[in-house]
Amino acid sequence: MEYNLREEGFYGNMEPEQITEMYGSPVYVYNEETLRSRCRELKKMVRYPHFVIDYSIKANFNPALLQIVKEEGLEVDVMSPGEIYLAKMAGYEANEIFYICNNVSEQEMRYAIEAGVTTSVDSLSQLEQYGRLNPGGKVAVRLNPGYGAGHHQKVITAGKKTKFGIDVEMLPEVKAVLARYSLKLVGVNQHIGSLFLEKEQYLKSVDSLLECAKEFSDLEFVDFGGGFGIAYHKENQIQRLDLADLGKSLDEIMYRFVKEYGKEITFRAEPGRYVTAESSVLLGTVNTVKTNHGKKYIGTDIGFNVLMRPVLYDSYHEIEVYEKNRKVTGKRETVTIVGNICESGDILAKDRELPHIEEKDMIGVLDAGAYGHVMSSNYNGRLRPAEVLVKRDGENCLIRKRDTLDDLVKNYVLLP
Ligand code: LLP
Repeated sequence: MEYNLREEGFYGNMEPEQITEMYGSPVYVYNEETLRSRCRELKKMVRYPHFVIDYSIKANFNPALLQIVKEEGLEVDVMSPGEIYLAKMAGYEANEIFYICNNVSEQEMRYAIEAGVTTSVDSLSQLEQYGRLNPGGKVAVRLNPGYGAGHHQKVITAGKKTKFGIDVEMLPEVKAVLARYSLKLVGVNQHIGSLFLEKEQYLKSVDSLLECAKEFSDLEFVDFGGGFGIAYHKENQIQRLDLADLGKSLDEIMYRFVKEYGKEITFRAEPGRYVTAESSVLLGTVNTVKTNHGKKYIGTDIGFNVLMRPVLYDSYHEIEVYEKNRKVTGKRETVTIVGNICESGDILAKDRELPHIEEKDMIGVLDAGAYGHVMSSNYNGRLRPAEVLVKRDGENCLIRKRDTLDDLVKNYVLLP
């Protein structure tokens, strides 16, 4: 199966090549319509009236994208004072921000308290810290149900082998700390891991979280976590996550719970990837084609400083080829697509069968909108790419400038 985002109008009124001419290569291109559609799907996934989608901005915190997400009515979850700052820059009010922190200093926690943002802590020690800083305040706790799920060991965020959450066996200790500091527990939350396409594990974790929630009589919310997956592999016809079906199951669970609990609390979910991943293609340029010991390498400007996921998690991203000023041959070949970083692990796609590629062609790396630009770096002294938004009218605009050489050096201090 070939992808044709270009023909489907993803790039609006410009060709990929014109976009890189204007903003440099590589460049992250976002499509506003796709982003809005994902937000809308999430907003209407359940019938229960008090269900809030918190977009987990760690997936992509470009403030212009956050403005769109906000317009679509999503709130946000954040991980650090930096993310609180970015959310506020995009217009989010404190009461629309949920801070789910991990191993933070007093200073960071104080920042959130002073900003008026609801905070969830994920250890007894951090609950103590919160109590010391804000006695009598409102707080949430992140629980660890004892098992997790995710696309890679590195993104499984609950279970017996991870650092996250408070062991559900420790609820008596949680209650004791709450009492000691007169804290009010307003919410419980969890996040078992990133990327599920089948609902079962998620629902199982929701059930066990709700069991714990019953231990506390006056909660305002229960937050089920994120992890909603997208189908990175397109050619195997992997099914999309069935949001409507997931929503139906969640509705049953939520209505049943509030009946027993005797209060219509708010439920939340915090997807990151689902909101932004599919809204972006990372465009890059082929600088070199070479054969090394029988293997054909396509040398591009997309090093792992630009997109880390393939190197860090062996992640798969579909790739589209845009031929530059030449006839499309229809020929296909197996190639390995690499970047321009001085490490042999700098591989974007290994032994991939793709249309014939020549130097100066361009490639589009699909589903790059989540954990793409936010995880980029200046490794090898390379400049982080620009981010460009294709608006609904087909015109595009810059939403983050490409780094300059001055950006690269601006924080260094030379010896006198
Ligand atoms: N909530 C919490 C507390 C989280 O730690 C995360 C992600 C999310 C929500 C959102 O998860 P999502 O819906 O995006 O799966 N860099 C990795 C993913 C790391 C996810 C970390 N936590 C990747 O590129 O696959």
